[in-house]
Amino acid sequence: MEAIHITDVAPRDGLQNQSVHVPTQAKLKLIELLSNAGVSSVEATSFVSPKAVPQMADATELVQELSRVFENLRLSVLAPNLKGLERALAAGAKEIAVVLSATEMMNQKNINMSLDAAIAASEQTLHRARDHGLRRRAYIAVAFECPFEGATGLDRTMLLAKKMLEAGAQEVVIADTIGAAAPLDVKERMSALAEVVPVSQLAIHLHDTRGMAVANAWAALEAGIRRFDSSVGGIGGCPFAPGAAGNLATEDLVLMAGQCGFDTGIDLNLLLDAVDFAEGVLERPLGGRSSAWLRRRRARDTSASAS
Ligand code: COA
Ligand code: ZN
Repeated sequence: MEAIHITDVAPRDGLQNQSVHVPTQAKLKLIELLSNAGVSSVEATSFVSPKAVPQMADATELVQELSRVFENLRLSVLAPNLKGLERALAAGAKEIAVVLSATEMMNQKNINMSLDAAIAASEQTLHRARDHGLRRRAYIAVAFECPFEGATGLDRTMLLAKKMLEAGAQEVVIADTIGAAAPLDVKERMSALAEVVPVSQLAIHLHDTRGMAVANAWAALEAGIRRFDSSVGGIGGCPFAPGAAGNLATEDLVLMAGQCGFDTGIDLNLLLDAVDFAEGVLERPLGGRSSAWLRRRRARDTSASAS
């Protein structure tokens, strides 16, 4: 079976936008449940201004605790500028991600920088991270459509992806931040991007706003993409991008990939434990499109093994 690689971004992309305050201990527990289910890579938090994203104010404490507990889990943190990188380094992070939006307006809204300033900040941060021996990812946000500027040109996304690769990103993550992409578009764009970034270093980050996330993930698989971001329970959204709803749910991706002959290394019943836990913490029902069926199957499995 061919493997696909999944980074669960629920603790960062998922939680950053929640109105309920999530205590550090609950974040640790969620990551532990993900790890138990076989998730090998997690985006844990972000080193951004706590005024901009209060939910991530405990980033230092969380990373310190995580590094103590999980030695074999790949843990990435968002660090959009040098200040974020310095804080990540001080906390002991081993992997960072920069976030560059493809449009002028989205950079302004998200990180208060022009596109040119955001490119420079991302390049600088990647260079410095490389000097410190950290692993490096770079997001190209609103790579398909921007809530402020409309459709994003493929040439723009390709140019920025290439720049991030040249600046030392080991993984370039193409993000459909507001979940506006369609499967054919995903297939065409990811195929074109694979000509400027080695496909082994290209990842896709999908949102499910229009119910297209699984179809889009399939389209990306067809384009040869094997690295995916997803969020357990589909928890997600961006506080700075109006209309950004939940992410591609990890359980939907794992189910679809398994049905199509790809190995994710993730156990769906154990993953449901993480969904159940997150529901308790966020005090609302969660789960991808498949979760009701997955829960029924789990109940059947449990009663079959008890009899
Ligand atoms: N972590 C913590 N604090 C930071 C920081 C970081 N990475 N970068 C800047 N700051 C602090 C500065 O020290 C300064 O603090 P002060 O007001 O106490 O003096 C304040 O934030 C403003 O600094 P400035 O350089 O003028 O930044 P800004 O106000 O233009 O904000 C960001 C830049 C990137 C820090 C801010 O826009 C941000 O955190 N955005 C959130 C991005 C995000 O998480 N988006 C969702 C995921 S894509
Ligand atoms: Zn996202």
